[in-house]
Formats: sequence, structure tokens, C-alpha cells
Amino acid sequence: MSGKTFYLETFGCQMNAHDSEKVIGTLEQQGYAQVDSEEAADLLLYNTCSIRDKAEQKVFHRLNDYKKLAKAGKRFGVIGCVAQQEGEKIFERAPYVSLVAGSASYRRLPELIARMEAGETRVTGLDDRQTDEAFETEFTARKNPYRAYITIIEGCDKFCAYCVVPYTRGKERSRGSESVLEEAKRIAGMGYTEIQLLGQNVNSYRDPTGKKSFAELLAAVGEVDGIRRVRFTTSHPRDFTRDIVEVIDAVPTLCDHVHLPVQSGSTRVLRAMAREYTREWYLERMDWIKAAKRKISLSTDIIVGFPGETPAEFEETITLLNEVQYDVVFAFKYSPRPNTPSLVMIDSISDEEKSKRLQILLDRQREIQRANYDRRLGEVLEVMVEGNNPAREQIVGRSSQNIPVNFSWPHPIAPAPGSYQQVRITRTFPNSLVGEAV
Ligand code: 5AD
Ligand code: SF4
Repeated sequence: MSGKTFYLETFGCQMNAHDSEKVIGTLEQQGYAQVDSEEAADLLLYNTCSIRDKAEQKVFHRLNDYKKLAKAGKRFGVIGCVAQQEGEKIFERAPYVSLVAGSASYRRLPELIARMEAGETRVTGLDDRQTDEAFETEFTARKNPYRAYITIIEGCDKFCAYCVVPYTRGKERSRGSESVLEEAKRIAGMGYTEIQLLGQNVNSYRDPTGKKSFAELLAAVGEVDGIRRVRFTTSHPRDFTRDIVEVIDAVPTLCDHVHLPVQSGSTRVLRAMAREYTREWYLERMDWIKAAKRKISLSTDIIVGFPGETPAEFEETITLLNEVQYDVVFAFKYSPRPNTPSLVMIDSISDEEKSKRLQILLDRQREIQRANYDRRLGEVLEVMVEGNNPAREQIVGRSSQNIPVNFSWPHPIAPAPGSYQQVRITRTFPNSLVGEAV
């Protein structure tokens, strides 16, 4: 071993987490070993997110902490969404950083790292919206012991008014369905039983080889030998077609869960957000899902306080929650992001008012969720074991609906992580279910 070491910290979404797995695999291939302390590393990488809340400022603060380590002759790289967004400005503000690379350039990481090792001090991989290629590597270091991620589509062409993703992750590009299926089979061969298909808009998938629709790809992955659970995230309502519901009904390994971000319950606000659907259009998709033979759990993302959102329009988001009855809601206060179209709209709603709306929404959702979860009392759910909580003497895992389930176990030896157990639900919490193994 050459003795080169790296430390990697990751922020943001599952796409970023999975990119990190690919980056780790690529670096290991280049003779690097991962270490878990900054002090022990020759190379420090920071895989960044820029979705909300002045994320870039946090990165610069963090880089400031790195300053003292820089004296020890270590090299620094900023990768991911803030890297793509801020580009060479990062070198100005943190001169000890020698690599700045966005996700669309990771295919070139071996070359970028080699240039850095050769002493170049400002190596950039900023491919922006130019690239047509996806970041595929056979070296992915799979860090989650039971759930394997496969990216099927990268980038985004939707340009919602508030969102940085089209600028940080480049244009939409899908991976060939055969290559996806080969990877699914390889993963199943490694012993994984759960696969999560990833994409910023996973259901905008367009097979470049023209062989499979998104729904057909879901079915094919679900039919791979050994695979027991298939999830996919995140879907966009615009591309949510009825055949997705049909395929969930038809293929038992597809999980009972759809995450479909609505962002707002007001058609006026949705138009201002450039979401390209109306409240009614979205609710129609909810009706399709609710009409399925299986009971499919629903979750969503919501932004409160988008520029110009009136109290009445906010109220429409609350009535949408009442109507849909989601199992989980991720809600955020609007925050203006660099380069995005909504940056020119006046962010007129005070932070205090945004916080108030957020709290009202979370309180309402808590009640809905409590009622939803209570309806599950007495049900037997299949839970994939993720570990145990010795303090509570409970086994922890997740149901097909993606709900965390903690349960008691009658035997002295805990069930293996990754195994599946039948659990009868006996109690509910706001964000989890409690039960006993049957
Ligand atoms: N402000 C607040 N929330 C945002 N999101 C994306 N961009 C912004 C922004 N500028 C939220 C959306 C998206 C989730 C991942 O983050 O709800 O679905
Ligand atoms: Fe963050 Fe979006 Fe980048 Fe994911 S794609 S890391 S959520 S900015």
C-alpha cells in the first residue's frame, strides 16, 4: 500500500451520499485508504450541499476550521453542489483548497487527483450543464450494509424557480436500462435484498437505449433474483404516470411507498414556482395511488413562505395536507438561492412569519400522522432489521412503507441486520411505530 489516506465528509441528499460511495471506491482504486479523522488524512474532501439556508456560508466557515490543518501539508478538496455553484471563488476565499469539483465531473476524478498530487494548486472539475455522461464506476464502495443505491438518472432539466439543482448537477441524463439491471444483479449477488433507485427526478427516467419505460425498469429491478424491496426517490409529479401505480400493484417487491413532492397546495404559487402542474392535477395522481389494490404510504416535500405566498394560499397547503393525509412531510422555509429564477422575486415574507407557517404546518401534520399511525395498531408489518437499541432493548428497522419500526424480540440473540421479521404493531409515536415480533 502506498500509504495515501483520505477523509471524506458528506452533506445533503441521498444522491450526494451515493456519490460519496462512488468517490470512495474511485479513490481506493487510486491507492488511497479512507480514515475517519481529519488529522490522520493526507487528503480531505468535503462533499457539499447547497439546497437551502445559505449552505455555501456554512462551507466557508467549515473551511476556516481547516486552516490550521493546512499548515500540516494536507491537501483539501471541495466537491459536490457548493463546489459547482461557487467554482473558483472557493480558491479565493480558501487558498489552501486545491481541488474544486462538481458531481458532473467525477468521472474525471482519477485525473483531477493525479494533477493535484503532481502539485497543481487549483484543479477544477466544473462541467456545469455540458456533460452528457453519467458517473458510473464499478468501484462503488457500498457503505450501507443492507440497502444498495443505484443512480438511474442524474441532473435536472425542470428549473423550478427556487431550486439550485439544475445548476449544480447539470442536465438530465439517464443510464441505460441494461446497465442498471446488470448492477442490480451484481448487487443482489453481493447479498443485498433492498435496492433504492436514485435520481433528482427519478421518474423522469428515459432509457437512452429506448428499451424500458421507468415503470418497466421498476418491474425488472423488482424481479431480479434475491431482491425483496425496491424503492425509488425522488419523483416529480409532472412525470408521475399511472403505470407506476400499476406496476407497484403488480410486482410485490416494489415497496408500499411513494414520495411525491408537492411544494405547495396553491395553484397560483405552483405556477410562480414553475412546477407545471396545478393542485387538482397533483390530487388526481394522489387519487390514482389511493385507488391501488395495495395501501401505498405517501410522503411529500413542502416549501412555506415562497415569495408572494398569501395567508390564504398557505392555508391551501394545509387543506391539501388534510386531503392527502401523508405519512411523512418534509417542510422547509423558502430560502433564496444563487442563480435561481426566484432570486429576483422579492423575498417579502419575514423569517418570523415563515417560521410561524412552518410550525402551523408541522403541528397539523403531526395530528394527521398520529391518526394514520394509530390506524396501523394491530397490523402485522414486515420489517427489515437495521440494528438494535440496547438502551431500550429494542430491535430497530423499517417497514415497506419506509416507517421506522422498533420492536421487542423474545430471544437472547438479536436478529441479523438485513433480515426480515414480522412485527405486530402495539404502540405508536409521532414518527415511528412500536411492536413485537410475531
Ligand atoms: N428553499 C427552501 N426549500 C427548498 N427546497 C429546494 N429548494 C429550496 C429553497 N430554495 C426543498 C424542496 C425540495 C427539497 C429537497 O428541498 O421542498 O423538494
Ligand atoms: Fe443538496 Fe440538492 Fe445537491 Fe442533493 S442535489 S446535495 S439536495 S443541493
